[in-house]
Amino acid sequence: MEYISVTGGRPLQGELWVSGAKNSVLPILAASVLCREECVIHGCPQLTDVDAALEILTQLGGKTRCVGDTVYVDASSIRDNHISKTAMATMRSSILFLGPLLARTGSCSLYRPGGCQLGERPIDLHLKGLHTLGAEIKWEEDHLTCCGKLKGGTVVLPYPSVGATENLILAALGGDSPTIICNAAREPEIGDLIGFLRTCGAEIDGKDTGTLRIMPGKLHGGTYTVMADRAEAATWLSAVAATGGSVSLRGIRPEWLSPVLSVYRIAGCRIRETQNGVALDAPERLKGAGVIRTAPYPGFPTDAQAPVMASFLQSRGITVFEETVFSQRYRHVPALKSMGADITTASSVAVVTGVAKTYGADMESTDLRGGAAMVVAALAGHGQSRIFGLRHIRRGYGDMTGKLRQLGAEIWEQQDEPAVLSQGGKHHEQGSTGATLRKTPAEGTG
Ligand code: EPZ
Repeated sequence: MEYISVTGGRPLQGELWVSGAKNSVLPILAASVLCREECVIHGCPQLTDVDAALEILTQLGGKTRCVGDTVYVDASSIRDNHISKTAMATMRSSILFLGPLLARTGSCSLYRPGGCQLGERPIDLHLKGLHTLGAEIKWEEDHLTCCGKLKGGTVVLPYPSVGATENLILAALGGDSPTIICNAAREPEIGDLIGFLRTCGAEIDGKDTGTLRIMPGKLHGGTYTVMADRAEAATWLSAVAATGGSVSLRGIRPEWLSPVLSVYRIAGCRIRETQNGVALDAPERLKGAGVIRTAPYPGFPTDAQAPVMASFLQSRGITVFEETVFSQRYRHVPALKSMGADITTASSVAVVTGVAKTYGADMESTDLRGGAAMVVAALAGHGQSRIFGLRHIRRGYGDMTGKLRQLGAEIWEQQDEPAVLSQGGKHHEQGSTGATLRKTPAEGTG
């Protein structure tokens, strides 16, 4: 059984380069379906979700190869327009192949997408928008068939859905006249997708404005470097803030993290912003940060909610979270409470009251950012923790333990005999293998 082992309670410090953004490279890989020549994508993070996207491109008939963090995609040989149920189940962003396959072949069949269980994750906004652009949609149980000659048109999104915006941009390129998308998502990853598409010859106006105008047209290939990952950067900032350390993050534009940086300034951190990076120096204990409400960009990013929450468990004071984007994005809370955290949730609100100390525990990650939150909490907690469910974490973090060790963390991926979990009472001895006994919060290490 594999898990992440953490010995917490020490400040993290150092410098890190932020990897390429998962939520940018995935729509870019889907967009490569529209390119008639080879695409070269630099700064591609090494994640299981990226592997899944490359597998879908291969299943469709495309040719892909990876050299380090560069991915080469030649979609000119794509002949298929069906995506298997297994491939669709691996991640949410498998749905992003729908728009480009429709644009390229005039039809597509696939299944409901998988991904993190964050509550109901419908695709109605994707489908209604595609129908407006001329697609006929047919459901047979969980099998979806779309076909039709795409035309231009005006789509007004009732909610600035990131995925729906991406799907509609890609579908619009296959239309017979311009398409306008109103109330489009404005996340930086949308801007990165538009940057890639423009490199390949697309004419798209309105980037970052919420109203996009897409001219139809065929795309050649292109070379593009993916933006840095905001969610990863927020995770590292949370880990350093939680442990009273200091970090310099390179390769990230501070404006992409503004709401997170504002929270940590309120909590007592010193923040320095540069053109291509941000530095954070944390106090020994954070102050409560008041109310943090997640919202579409440029609001506080929902993907930062869990790790940022984990950084406030031992703060002085109260921090209140309101999760407005997903209906079930507090699934990490029980694990944090097993460490001795004081968190009360009611519907979309979570109230974190800082405690003097939290203690190591065994935790099972439930989703990508929830798993990251458990690691952040374990790094600040006293004693040893184990975090299971690594498959969730590997979807969005290429080398989480390696990067955190660069900051001085005592964190390792372990492969052990099936462990006997948390028999409590006896403190775990560093370096032992097999069954691990550990203190329960009530018998903390003081
Ligand atoms: C993208 O998911 C990201 N995933 C998510 O990151 C991120 O949390 C989310 O955007 C919000 O920023 C990728 O880019 C691969 P949405 P997406 O469509 O596109 C509802 C991570 O941890 N909705 O903006 O699925 C939906 O249920 C992941 O990296 C509909 O009702 O997000 C949700 O409540 C998690 N109907 C809200 O909108 C639809 O057709 C936001 O969803 C589509 C969405």
